[in-house]
Amino acid sequence: MKTYNITLLKGDGIGPEIVDQAVKVLNAVGKKFDFTVNYTDALIGGAAIDATGEPLPQATIDDCLASDAVLLGAVGGYKWDGLSGKQRPEAGLLGIRAALGLFANLRPAKIYGPLKSACPLRPDIIGDSMDIMVVRELTGGIYFGERGRTEKDGVEGAYDTEYYSKPEIVRIAKVAFETAMKRGKKLHSIDKANVLESSRLWRETVNEMAKEYPEVEVNHLYIDNAAMQLVRNPKQFDVMVTSNIFGDILSDEASQIAGSIGMLASASLGEGTRGLYEPIHGSAPDIAGQNIANPLATILSVAMMLRYSLNEDAAADAIEKAVEKVLDDGLRTPDIYTEGTTKIGTDAMGDAVAAAL
Ligand code: IPM
Ligand code: MG
Repeated sequence: MKTYNITLLKGDGIGPEIVDQAVKVLNAVGKKFDFTVNYTDALIGGAAIDATGEPLPQATIDDCLASDAVLLGAVGGYKWDGLSGKQRPEAGLLGIRAALGLFANLRPAKIYGPLKSACPLRPDIIGDSMDIMVVRELTGGIYFGERGRTEKDGVEGAYDTEYYSKPEIVRIAKVAFETAMKRGKKLHSIDKANVLESSRLWRETVNEMAKEYPEVEVNHLYIDNAAMQLVRNPKQFDVMVTSNIFGDILSDEASQIAGSIGMLASASLGEGTRGLYEPIHGSAPDIAGQNIANPLATILSVAMMLRYSLNEDAAADAIEKAVEKVLDDGLRTPDIYTEGTTKIGTDAMGDAVAAAL
Protein backbone atom coordinates (compact mmCIF):
# COMPACT_ATOMS: atom_id res chain seq x y z
CA MET A 1 0.00 0.00 0.00
CA LYS A 2 1.22 3.50 -0.80
CA THR A 3 2.03 5.87 2.05
CA TYR A 4 2.18 9.63 1.75
CA ASN A 5 3.91 12.01 4.15
CA ILE A 6 1.90 15.13 4.83
CA THR A 7 2.93 18.03 7.03
CA LEU A 8 0.03 19.72 8.82
CA LEU A 9 0.39 23.43 9.58
CA LYS A 10 -2.80 23.98 11.56
CA GLY A 11 -1.88 27.52 12.55
CA ASP A 12 -4.23 29.86 14.39
CA GLY A 13 -7.90 30.66 14.94
CA ILE A 14 -10.15 28.18 13.19
CA GLY A 15 -7.07 26.54 11.57
CA PRO A 16 -6.84 23.53 13.90
CA GLU A 17 -10.55 22.63 13.79
CA ILE A 18 -10.86 22.82 9.99
CA VAL A 19 -7.62 20.89 9.40
CA ASP A 20 -8.89 18.15 11.73
CA GLN A 21 -11.95 17.73 9.49
CA ALA A 22 -9.79 17.59 6.37
CA VAL A 23 -7.64 14.87 7.99
CA LYS A 24 -10.78 12.85 8.72
CA VAL A 25 -11.74 13.06 5.06
CA LEU A 26 -8.23 12.26 3.81
CA ASN A 27 -8.11 9.15 6.02
CA ALA A 28 -11.52 8.05 4.76
CA VAL A 29 -10.59 8.52 1.11
CA GLY A 30 -7.30 6.68 1.72
CA LYS A 31 -9.20 3.62 2.96
CA LYS A 32 -11.27 3.64 -0.19
CA PHE A 33 -8.39 4.19 -2.62
CA ASP A 34 -5.85 2.07 -0.82
CA PHE A 35 -3.28 4.47 0.58
CA THR A 36 -2.26 5.59 4.04
CA VAL A 37 -1.04 8.93 5.25
CA ASN A 38 1.65 9.78 7.81
CA TYR A 39 1.07 13.15 9.41
CA THR A 40 3.64 15.47 10.95
CA ASP A 41 2.39 18.51 12.87
CA ALA A 42 4.54 21.61 12.58
CA LEU A 43 4.20 25.12 13.94
CA ILE A 44 3.48 28.27 11.94
CA GLY A 45 2.08 31.74 12.57
CA GLY A 46 0.91 32.87 15.97
CA ALA A 47 1.10 29.34 17.40
CA ALA A 48 4.79 29.24 16.40
CA ILE A 49 5.43 32.71 17.84
CA ASP A 50 3.97 31.65 21.18
CA ALA A 51 6.00 28.43 21.29
CA THR A 52 9.32 29.54 19.78
CA GLY A 53 9.31 33.32 19.38
CA GLU A 54 9.26 33.24 15.56
CA PRO A 55 6.47 32.73 13.01
CA LEU A 56 8.37 30.19 10.88
CA PRO A 57 10.84 28.02 12.80
CA GLN A 58 13.50 26.24 10.72
CA ALA A 59 12.11 22.90 11.97
CA THR A 60 8.85 23.68 10.17
CA ILE A 61 10.65 24.38 6.88
CA ASP A 62 12.59 21.12 7.27
CA ASP A 63 9.40 19.13 7.93
CA CYS A 64 7.71 20.63 4.89
CA LEU A 65 10.74 19.95 2.67
CA ALA A 66 10.70 16.31 3.80
CA SER A 67 7.03 15.75 2.97
CA ASP A 68 5.03 15.00 -0.17
CA ALA A 69 2.64 17.88 0.46
CA VAL A 70 1.66 20.43 3.09
CA LEU A 71 -1.83 21.20 4.38
CA LEU A 72 -2.28 24.57 6.05
CA GLY A 73 -5.20 25.92 8.07
CA ALA A 74 -4.77 29.66 8.58
CA VAL A 75 -2.52 32.13 10.41
CA GLY A 76 -3.03 35.32 12.36
CA GLY A 77 -5.21 36.75 15.10
CA TYR A 78 -5.84 39.78 17.30
CA LYS A 79 -3.30 38.58 19.82
CA TRP A 80 -0.38 39.17 17.43
CA ASP A 81 -1.71 42.25 15.62
CA GLY A 82 0.63 44.56 17.49
CA LEU A 83 3.83 42.84 16.26
CA SER A 84 6.03 44.44 13.60
CA GLY A 85 6.15 43.16 9.98
CA LYS A 86 8.75 40.40 10.16
CA GLN A 87 7.45 39.13 13.49
CA ARG A 88 3.82 38.84 12.46
CA PRO A 89 2.10 35.46 11.90
CA GLU A 90 1.59 36.39 8.21
CA ALA A 91 5.38 36.49 7.78
CA GLY A 92 5.30 32.75 8.50
CA LEU A 93 2.93 32.16 5.61
CA LEU A 94 4.91 34.33 3.18
CA GLY A 95 8.09 32.66 4.42
CA ILE A 96 6.92 29.11 3.82
CA ARG A 97 5.66 30.00 0.31
CA ALA A 98 9.10 31.42 -0.48
CA ALA A 99 11.07 28.63 1.24
CA LEU A 100 9.24 25.97 -0.78
CA GLY A 101 9.47 27.99 -4.03
CA LEU A 102 5.70 28.02 -4.45
CA PHE A 103 5.34 30.69 -7.11
CA ALA A 104 2.00 29.60 -8.56
CA ASN A 105 -1.20 29.91 -6.58
CA LEU A 106 -4.27 28.29 -8.12
CA ARG A 107 -7.54 29.59 -6.70
CA PRO A 108 -10.62 28.05 -8.29
CA ALA A 109 -13.86 30.00 -7.76
CA LYS A 110 -16.86 27.96 -8.68
CA ILE A 111 -20.50 27.98 -7.69
CA TYR A 112 -21.79 24.68 -6.38
CA GLY A 113 -25.32 24.11 -7.73
CA PRO A 114 -27.01 23.76 -4.32
CA LEU A 115 -25.38 27.02 -3.14
CA LYS A 116 -26.64 29.16 -6.01
CA SER A 117 -28.93 31.03 -3.66
CA ALA A 118 -25.90 32.09 -1.59
CA CYS A 119 -24.48 33.99 -4.57
CA PRO A 120 -25.10 37.71 -4.09
CA LEU A 121 -25.42 38.39 -7.84
CA ARG A 122 -28.73 38.27 -9.70
CA PRO A 123 -29.52 34.84 -11.23
CA ASP A 124 -29.50 36.31 -14.76
CA ILE A 125 -25.93 37.52 -14.23
CA ILE A 126 -24.72 34.14 -13.00
CA GLY A 127 -26.68 31.98 -15.46
CA ASP A 128 -26.06 28.26 -15.18
CA SER A 129 -22.72 28.43 -13.49
CA MET A 130 -19.52 30.26 -12.76
CA ASP A 131 -16.21 28.44 -12.87
CA ILE A 132 -13.10 30.59 -12.79
CA MET A 133 -9.49 29.70 -12.06
CA VAL A 134 -7.45 32.56 -10.65
CA VAL A 135 -3.72 31.97 -11.20
CA ARG A 136 -1.94 34.25 -8.77
CA GLU A 137 1.82 34.85 -8.75
CA LEU A 138 2.85 34.09 -5.19
CA THR A 139 6.52 34.71 -4.44
CA GLY A 140 7.22 38.03 -6.12
CA GLY A 141 5.88 41.52 -6.63
CA ILE A 142 5.19 44.03 -3.88
CA TYR A 143 4.84 41.29 -1.24
CA PHE A 144 8.55 40.53 -1.56
CA GLY A 145 9.97 43.78 -2.98
CA GLU A 146 12.11 46.21 -1.08
CA ARG A 147 10.24 48.12 1.60
CA GLY A 148 11.02 50.48 4.38
CA ARG A 149 10.47 53.65 6.34
CA THR A 150 12.17 56.79 5.20
CA GLU A 151 12.16 60.52 5.48
CA LYS A 152 11.95 63.01 2.60
CA ASP A 153 12.45 66.68 3.29
CA GLY A 154 12.00 66.01 6.98
CA VAL A 155 8.63 64.33 6.44
CA GLU A 156 8.04 60.75 7.58
CA GLY A 157 7.13 58.20 4.87
CA ALA A 158 7.17 54.55 3.89
CA TYR A 159 7.52 52.58 0.63
CA ASP A 160 6.97 49.13 -0.88
CA THR A 161 8.28 48.10 -4.30
CA GLU A 162 6.53 46.18 -7.07
CA TYR A 163 9.27 44.36 -8.99
CA TYR A 164 8.97 41.46 -11.43
CA SER A 165 11.82 39.88 -13.32
CA LYS A 166 11.01 38.53 -16.74
CA PRO A 167 11.63 34.86 -15.76
CA GLU A 168 9.17 35.27 -12.87
CA ILE A 169 6.50 36.42 -15.33
CA VAL A 170 7.36 33.69 -17.83
CA ARG A 171 6.99 30.87 -15.30
CA ILE A 172 3.63 32.04 -13.92
CA ALA A 173 2.30 32.76 -17.41
CA LYS A 174 3.31 29.25 -18.44
CA VAL A 175 1.25 27.79 -15.57
CA ALA A 176 -1.69 29.95 -16.65
CA PHE A 177 -1.47 28.96 -20.33
CA GLU A 178 -1.15 25.27 -19.44
CA THR A 179 -4.13 25.59 -17.09
CA ALA A 180 -6.17 27.31 -19.81
CA MET A 181 -5.29 24.51 -22.26
CA LYS A 182 -6.83 21.98 -19.84
CA ARG A 183 -9.96 24.10 -19.37
CA GLY A 184 -11.84 26.50 -21.66
CA LYS A 185 -8.73 27.83 -23.51
CA LYS A 186 -9.51 31.41 -22.51
CA LEU A 187 -7.02 33.52 -20.58
CA HIS A 188 -7.43 36.98 -19.10
CA SER A 189 -4.20 38.61 -17.95
CA ILE A 190 -4.83 41.32 -15.36
CA ASP A 191 -2.47 44.25 -14.86
CA LYS A 192 -2.25 48.02 -14.53
CA ALA A 193 -0.19 48.60 -17.67
CA ASN A 194 -1.64 52.09 -18.14
CA VAL A 195 0.33 53.18 -15.06
CA LEU A 196 2.86 50.60 -13.86
CA GLU A 197 6.09 49.72 -15.69
CA SER A 198 6.12 46.26 -14.07
CA SER A 199 2.68 45.72 -15.62
CA ARG A 200 3.97 46.75 -19.06
CA LEU A 201 6.67 44.08 -18.85
CA TRP A 202 4.01 41.63 -17.62
CA ARG A 203 1.76 42.35 -20.61
CA GLU A 204 4.60 42.19 -23.17
CA THR A 205 5.75 38.87 -21.75
CA VAL A 206 2.28 37.32 -21.78
CA ASN A 207 1.87 38.42 -25.41
CA GLU A 208 5.21 36.86 -26.37
CA MET A 209 4.21 33.59 -24.75
CA ALA A 210 0.79 33.62 -26.37
CA LYS A 211 2.55 32.73 -29.65
CA GLU A 212 3.40 29.34 -28.14
CA TYR A 213 -0.26 28.72 -27.29
CA PRO A 214 -2.18 29.70 -30.44
CA GLU A 215 -5.28 27.84 -29.26
CA VAL A 216 -5.64 30.02 -26.18
CA GLU A 217 -7.65 33.23 -26.58
CA VAL A 218 -5.77 35.94 -24.66
CA ASN A 219 -7.32 39.14 -23.31
CA HIS A 220 -5.74 41.87 -21.19
CA LEU A 221 -7.67 43.84 -18.61
CA TYR A 222 -6.66 46.56 -16.19
CA ILE A 223 -7.21 45.54 -12.60
CA ASP A 224 -9.89 48.15 -11.94
CA ASN A 225 -11.87 47.01 -14.97
CA ALA A 226 -11.33 43.33 -14.06
CA ALA A 227 -12.71 43.93 -10.56
CA MET A 228 -15.77 45.52 -12.15
CA GLN A 229 -16.20 42.85 -14.85
CA LEU A 230 -16.07 40.12 -12.23
CA VAL A 231 -19.37 41.30 -10.75
CA ARG A 232 -20.83 42.62 -14.01
CA ASN A 233 -20.32 39.49 -16.09
CA PRO A 234 -18.35 36.73 -14.33
CA LYS A 235 -19.30 34.18 -17.00
CA GLN A 236 -16.82 35.75 -19.45
CA PHE A 237 -13.89 34.42 -17.39
CA ASP A 238 -12.17 31.05 -17.55
CA VAL A 239 -8.56 31.51 -16.36
CA MET A 240 -7.27 34.80 -14.93
CA VAL A 241 -3.54 35.31 -14.40
CA THR A 242 -2.20 38.15 -12.32
CA SER A 243 0.38 39.44 -9.88
CA ASN A 244 0.63 38.63 -6.20
CA ILE A 245 -1.29 41.61 -4.84
CA PHE A 246 -3.92 41.84 -7.60
CA GLY A 247 -4.51 38.10 -7.24
CA ASP A 248 -4.95 38.44 -3.50
CA ILE A 249 -7.72 40.97 -4.04
CA LEU A 250 -9.44 39.39 -7.05
CA SER A 251 -9.56 35.94 -5.45
CA ASP A 252 -11.41 37.29 -2.41
CA GLU A 253 -13.86 39.03 -4.71
CA ALA A 254 -14.38 35.87 -6.77
CA SER A 255 -14.94 33.84 -3.60
CA GLN A 256 -17.82 36.04 -2.55
CA ILE A 257 -19.49 35.53 -5.89
CA ALA A 258 -19.20 31.80 -5.30
CA GLY A 259 -21.33 32.19 -2.19
CA SER A 260 -18.92 31.99 0.69
CA ILE A 261 -15.24 32.41 1.26
CA GLY A 262 -15.67 29.26 3.37
CA MET A 263 -15.95 27.18 0.19
CA LEU A 264 -12.80 28.06 -1.72
CA ALA A 265 -9.68 25.92 -1.84
CA SER A 266 -6.24 26.76 -3.13
CA ALA A 267 -3.06 25.09 -4.26
CA SER A 268 0.37 26.69 -4.17
CA LEU A 269 2.81 25.00 -6.51
CA GLY A 270 6.45 25.27 -7.53
CA GLU A 271 8.69 23.41 -9.96
CA GLY A 272 8.29 19.95 -8.42
CA THR A 273 5.18 18.11 -7.23
CA ARG A 274 5.34 19.21 -3.60
CA GLY A 275 2.66 21.79 -2.96
CA LEU A 276 1.01 23.64 -0.14
CA TYR A 277 -2.76 23.50 0.10
CA GLU A 278 -4.92 25.87 2.08
CA PRO A 279 -8.37 27.41 2.17
CA ILE A 280 -8.27 30.97 0.84
CA HIS A 281 -10.01 32.34 3.92
CA GLY A 282 -8.20 33.51 7.01
CA SER A 283 -8.08 32.40 10.63
CA ALA A 284 -11.45 33.98 11.61
CA PRO A 285 -10.49 34.44 15.29
CA ASP A 286 -13.99 35.74 16.05
CA ILE A 287 -15.52 32.30 15.48
CA ALA A 288 -12.58 30.07 16.52
CA GLY A 289 -13.28 27.18 18.88
CA GLN A 290 -17.07 27.39 18.53
CA ASN A 291 -17.51 24.49 16.11
CA ILE A 292 -19.23 26.74 13.55
CA ALA A 293 -16.46 27.29 10.96
CA ASN A 294 -16.96 25.86 7.47
CA PRO A 295 -14.35 23.11 6.86
CA LEU A 296 -15.28 22.60 3.20
CA ALA A 297 -12.61 24.91 1.75
CA THR A 298 -9.95 22.91 3.60
CA ILE A 299 -11.53 19.61 2.59
CA LEU A 300 -11.60 20.79 -1.04
CA SER A 301 -7.95 21.80 -0.65
CA VAL A 302 -7.22 18.15 0.16
CA ALA A 303 -8.86 17.24 -3.15
CA MET A 304 -6.47 19.62 -4.89
CA MET A 305 -3.57 18.05 -2.99
CA LEU A 306 -4.56 14.60 -4.22
CA ARG A 307 -4.77 15.87 -7.77
CA TYR A 308 -1.69 18.09 -8.02
CA SER A 309 0.81 16.53 -5.60
CA LEU A 310 -0.15 12.90 -5.04
CA ASN A 311 -1.42 11.92 -8.48
CA GLU A 312 -4.58 10.43 -6.97
CA ASP A 313 -7.13 11.93 -9.35
CA ALA A 314 -9.88 9.42 -8.60
CA ALA A 315 -9.62 10.15 -4.87
CA ALA A 316 -9.77 13.89 -5.60
CA ASP A 317 -12.92 13.43 -7.69
CA ALA A 318 -14.45 11.33 -4.90
CA ILE A 319 -13.95 14.12 -2.35
CA GLU A 320 -15.47 16.73 -4.63
CA LYS A 321 -18.45 14.45 -5.28
CA ALA A 322 -18.84 13.82 -1.56
CA VAL A 323 -18.91 17.58 -0.88
CA GLU A 324 -21.58 18.02 -3.55
CA LYS A 325 -23.59 15.16 -2.05
CA VAL A 326 -23.51 16.68 1.41
CA LEU A 327 -24.65 20.03 -0.01
CA ASP A 328 -27.37 18.27 -2.03
CA ASP A 329 -28.52 16.64 1.19
CA GLY A 330 -29.08 20.12 2.56
CA LEU A 331 -26.32 20.14 5.18
CA ARG A 332 -24.88 23.60 5.85
CA THR A 333 -22.52 25.31 8.23
CA PRO A 334 -23.87 28.69 9.40
CA ASP A 335 -22.00 30.74 6.75
CA ILE A 336 -23.87 29.01 3.91
CA TYR A 337 -27.11 28.30 5.75
CA THR A 338 -30.39 29.32 4.11
CA GLU A 339 -33.95 28.61 5.17
CA GLY A 340 -35.06 25.05 4.51
CA THR A 341 -31.57 23.56 4.91
CA THR A 342 -30.05 21.86 7.97
CA LYS A 343 -27.57 23.80 10.03
CA ILE A 344 -24.68 21.70 11.38
CA GLY A 345 -21.29 22.34 13.01
CA THR A 346 -17.71 22.02 11.80
CA ASP A 347 -17.26 18.54 13.22
CA ALA A 348 -20.54 17.20 11.86
CA MET A 349 -19.67 18.59 8.41
CA GLY A 350 -16.35 16.71 8.46
CA ASP A 351 -18.15 13.52 9.52
CA ALA A 352 -20.79 13.98 6.81
CA VAL A 353 -18.22 14.34 4.01
CA ALA A 354 -16.24 11.34 5.32
CA ALA A 355 -19.46 9.30 5.47
CA ALA A 356 -20.49 10.36 1.96
CA LEU A 357 -17.27 8.80 0.67
C1 IPM B 1 -4.09 35.04 1.29
C2 IPM B 1 -3.92 35.91 2.50
C3 IPM B 1 -2.43 36.19 2.71
C4 IPM B 1 -1.94 36.89 1.48
C5 IPM B 1 -2.11 36.99 3.98
C6 IPM B 1 -2.63 36.31 5.21
C7 IPM B 1 -0.65 37.29 4.10
O1 IPM B 1 -4.68 37.07 2.38
O2 IPM B 1 -3.53 33.93 1.27
O3 IPM B 1 -4.79 35.47 0.37
O4 IPM B 1 -2.10 38.12 1.33
O5 IPM B 1 -1.36 36.23 0.61
MG1 MG C 1 -5.96 37.10 0.68
